Amino acid sequence: MPYYRRAGEVPPKRHTQFRQPDGGLYAEELMGQEGFSSDSSLLYHRHLPTAIVAAEEYDAKAGSRVPNRPLKPRHFRTHKLDTPDADPILDRAHLMANDDVRLSYVVTERPSVLYRNAIGDECLYVESGRARIESTFGALDVAEGDYVVIPTSVIYRVVPDGVARILSIEATGHIGPPRRYLSVRGQFLEASPYCERDLRGPAEPSTVDGIDVEVYVQHRRGWTRYVYANHPFDVVGWDGCLYPWALSIHDFEPITGRVHQPPPVHQTFEGPNFVICSFVPRKVDYHPLAIPVPYNHHNVDSDEMLFYTGGNYEARRGSGIEQGSISLHPGGFTHGPQPGAAERAIGVEYFDELAVMVDTFRPLDLCEPALSCEDSGYAWTWAGGRSLSRTLAGDGSASVAVSDPGPTSG
Ligand SMILES: [Fe+2]
Repeated sequence: MPYYRRAGEVPPKRHTQFRQPDGGLYAEELMGQEGFSSDSSLLYHRHLPTAIVAAEEYDAKAGSRVPNRPLKPRHFRTHKLDTPDADPILDRAHLMANDDVRLSYVVTERPSVLYRNAIGDECLYVESGRARIESTFGALDVAEGDYVVIPTSVIYRVVPDGVARILSIEATGHIGPPRRYLSVRGQFLEASPYCERDLRGPAEPSTVDGIDVEVYVQHRRGWTRYVYANHPFDVVGWDGCLYPWALSIHDFEPITGRVHQPPPVHQTFEGPNFVICSFVPRKVDYHPLAIPVPYNHHNVDSDEMLFYTGGNYEARRGSGIEQGSISLHPGGFTHGPQPGAAERAIGVEYFDELAVMVDTFRPLDLCEPALSCEDSGYAWTWAGGRSLSRTLAGDGSASVAVSDPGPTSG
């Protein structure tokens, strides 16, 4: 983040003596990205942040990950994955992944373990419910519609307040606002759909007493469970431009036009080889002959994942898409509105839709939990639900069975 923030007590000059009430020095820690050449923060700990007393291998649930073959548009119903006793981090149901990003989903009401993702930044999206994100930087309260960006290696945990549904986007690198939204010195530009006033960060550091505290670390070679000599939430002050921060999707101001605007106007964040976009309730295209739903399109370089998180997504009406659905429209497949959607949308002035999109440049593989909640008829919905099941014989002849159940429904 380019946005400087300070919480708690810090000394007037960096890297100088800063003493605790008992006369001992606070332990200064610099967390910084790209070596010492990008955003960073300085944190002041009561105890050494280096003091671990155990390091144990942890066997995380990896699960299977298979290519999208045969190549098909997919529809997954995440609300069939209800897992109320899940750990919000260790029990995430992985849905799709490539070497740049992994998308997962969890339904939970219990606090997570303490956790550090040493591979990259995480972006959590709260579909419903409330939670407190506790970290070495302090606490952030989040609710329905909030994105939370947690920088690489920040130790944090998720504490739901009741049942929360969370989509997680784990990057192999850093997630931030699109560079085109920022001035050369990092201020949000006038044309950006959100700005500094819409962002929230931890207001106060939080200090917790405790010894021999477990922290689960996901790193570039697997998982390790550290036991820290002292609780890692022991920071009395920090300042800098690196910290967990939140943005509500409801503070994203849509950009509209006389004719249909392309998805880059919805872009909210960028990560390594992927983007995150927000489709929010908005007035729609107002040219007298406008067709407010998208034209058929084929983004030849990317896979498109869309998470339907509220309202009614007009272009998908009749396809079986519902609250909590995820569609995957891969590169190699032309997608577009469902049959009849273009005619139906003419004259409509407002779309009440809420969706989070992740477009990846590398293909997304499918993980087992996603396949377990797949609506297998989705691929044929543009053809009215008609599909052919073909069996090829050795002589090249094909026997064909026709299935014509009509469009799938919720
Ligand atoms: Fe699309």
